[in-house]
Amino acid sequence: MNIVMKNVRETPRESEGQHDATDAITGTSDHRKGNVYETTGSLNMYLGLHYPRSGNDKNMDPIFPHEHAPWHAVGFPQRVAQILVSLLPKNEDFPKRALDIGCAVGGSSFELAKVFHRVDAFDFSESFVNAAKRMQANEMIRFNVPVEAELSEEVTAMHDEDVTEEVRQRVHFFTGDACSLQDMVEKGLLSGHETYDGVLLANLLCRLPDPMACLNDLSQIVRKEGVVVIVTPYSWLCEFTPRERWLGGFTDPHTNESVYSKSTLQTVMESDGFEKIHEEQVPLIIREHQRKYQYIVSEATGWRKVK
Ligand SMILES: C[S@@+](CC[C@H](N)C(=O)[O-])C[C@H]1O[C@@H](n2cnc3c(N)ncnc32)[C@H](O)[C@@H]1O
Repeated sequence: MNIVMKNVRETPRESEGQHDATDAITGTSDHRKGNVYETTGSLNMYLGLHYPRSGNDKNMDPIFPHEHAPWHAVGFPQRVAQILVSLLPKNEDFPKRALDIGCAVGGSSFELAKVFHRVDAFDFSESFVNAAKRMQANEMIRFNVPVEAELSEEVTAMHDEDVTEEVRQRVHFFTGDACSLQDMVEKGLLSGHETYDGVLLANLLCRLPDPMACLNDLSQIVRKEGVVVIVTPYSWLCEFTPRERWLGGFTDPHTNESVYSKSTLQTVMESDGFEKIHEEQVPLIIREHQRKYQYIVSEATGWRKVK
């Protein structure tokens, strides 16, 4: 059963204080202007998050070295990809084809490509997808890491050593809209109905204008026994998702009961033919500057398609 909600699209705006509202939009087409994920500040931030080995002569660390530094929260894109791989059925038929929805600059996609024969990876942000393609071509991407107030260090984005040329070429990056998966299949952008063995949605759901549209189309593209991993901090903001489309985080005006996103997600996934096979808390840090980070605890849930 597909749960449908009214479709109203909004362009994401600046939010959460983690981006500089004055950031330049990085050479993108008009309809994407105003999207926070097209700014230079976001691009720098996500290159830092996805390529923690990035460095310069001074050997910049992803976290300022100190006692109790949360090293466990580094490498989030790689860790969530590993969760998906760990949940795949252990038979010869797997793992062939993966899909990374909202791939940003590609860190998870390359991690998936160490195991999957082919990885399709798309994002709404042209500047993110361009950067991912440049990382695929092993270009030297230089970007700024904030240090203190107006000071930053320029570093080079670097792959892990085991992201070889062969691994990189297994990924197919493109721009696309997670709320139009069915359209993307029809246009030949996605591989087809019930073809993906593994699908990853990392910190995507609460950045979508219509999360339900995305969830409802998942069952069309995942093959039987295939696995979907959804990772999210359920961090709903009206800038990204109209309030009437939040999966939870509010009080039901009729019953006066608290509605939690986790339980809505379970209802939707089960009604779309998935069974829950995993749950795990996944910390990550996003650098604001050398001495200030966002510490986020996303929830990863794993879903096997049973119908
Ligand atoms: C919080 S970031 C997470 C990125 C990445 N998955 C990660 O874990 O680091 C949200 C991502 O979703 C992308 N995004 C937002 N709306 C989208 C849409 N409608 N379709 C595809 N990607 C979208 C953004 O461009 C951004 O890259």
